[in-house]
Amino acid sequence: MIVVTGATGQFGRLVIDALLERGTPASEIVAAVRTPAKAADIAARGVEVREADYTRPETLVPAFTGADKLLFVSSNGPEADRIAQHTAAVAAAAEARVGQLLYTSVYAASESPLGLSRVHRDTEARIAATGLPTVLLRNGWYTENYTGSLAGAVERGVVAGSAGEGRIASASRADYAEAAAIVLLGDDQAGKVYELTGDTNWSLAELAAEAAKQSGKEVAYANLPAEQYAGILNGVGLPSFLVELLVDADLQVAAGALEGITGDLSGLLGRPTTPLADTVAVALKG
Ligand SMILES: NC(=O)c1ccc[n+]([C@@H]2O[C@H](COP(=O)([O-])OP(=O)(O)OC[C@H]3O[C@@H](n4cnc5c(N)ncnc54)[C@H](OP(=O)(O)O)[C@@H]3O)[C@@H](O)[C@H]2O)c1
Repeated sequence: MIVVTGATGQFGRLVIDALLERGTPASEIVAAVRTPAKAADIAARGVEVREADYTRPETLVPAFTGADKLLFVSSNGPEADRIAQHTAAVAAAAEARVGQLLYTSVYAASESPLGLSRVHRDTEARIAATGLPTVLLRNGWYTENYTGSLAGAVERGVVAGSAGEGRIASASRADYAEAAAIVLLGDDQAGKVYELTGDTNWSLAELAAEAAKQSGKEVAYANLPAEQYAGILNGVGLPSFLVELLVDADLQVAAGALEGITGDLSGLLGRPTTPLADTVAVALKG
């Protein structure tokens, strides 16, 4: 049986979709979710829904029990909260004696300069200490991190950021989810560490150019000092931990943190990763 946490999130839903599309019987899948009421559509597909809230450890062992494979999808929120939540989830996976623990980490977690990689390094160390058979799915950036706000950027004519000429080897969220499903369904995966990236990388100036090409409007990249970019993000009401994370990510992108291309993702998929232009097209169709 395969248990997927965060199954009502954008990534988790796509993993469930990919498992079903690949012929996994719904009765072999468990969607482990913070809020079961949000999973009625998943239950309607015959998938068992179990409550699994990382902040309520008593829900976790029952949710993970019986898992041959557990896909632990990393949480979101401020760093200290995430570390506490991930600690609880890993402890529960060990207590439930899952057959294999798969974790969605971050690209190049061992040495990544990204601030958000601290949580992933901590979690990977806790996972290693359990002694469980494990697989690390070190996901690079989702292209959707940038295209989510692209329609507004096209309207204003400006893609704003602090990433300079840094390049990002992103892929679509669905690419990473499909790869996770392939690994979940694969044999001989224990001990593997996948560094998952897109097949090509691009700069924010190239993103702006692609948006301009597809929309027929003028769109330029404005490379801003970090304080100014943070001011814009604060101005649209993002929580301060997220502003800090996004500005840090841009500065690290400028220094090359996400430019690496490994081929691991297309290797698993057996096809090229989804090009930037395709994800931009989806975003601009609205
Ligand atoms: N690679 C990247 O570019 C990238 C970008 C953003 C995030 N991420 C990471 O990848 C994860 C999945 O991405 P996503 O796009 O699916 O993000 P998402 O749509 O925000 O989903 C996050 C998931 O985490 C769940 N969650 C949050 N707190 C929880 C808790 N206390 N207990 C149990 N579940 C909890 C959410 O539950 P609800 O459905 O109840 O809200 C949701 O299912 C994120 O959580 C984050 O760690 C990666």
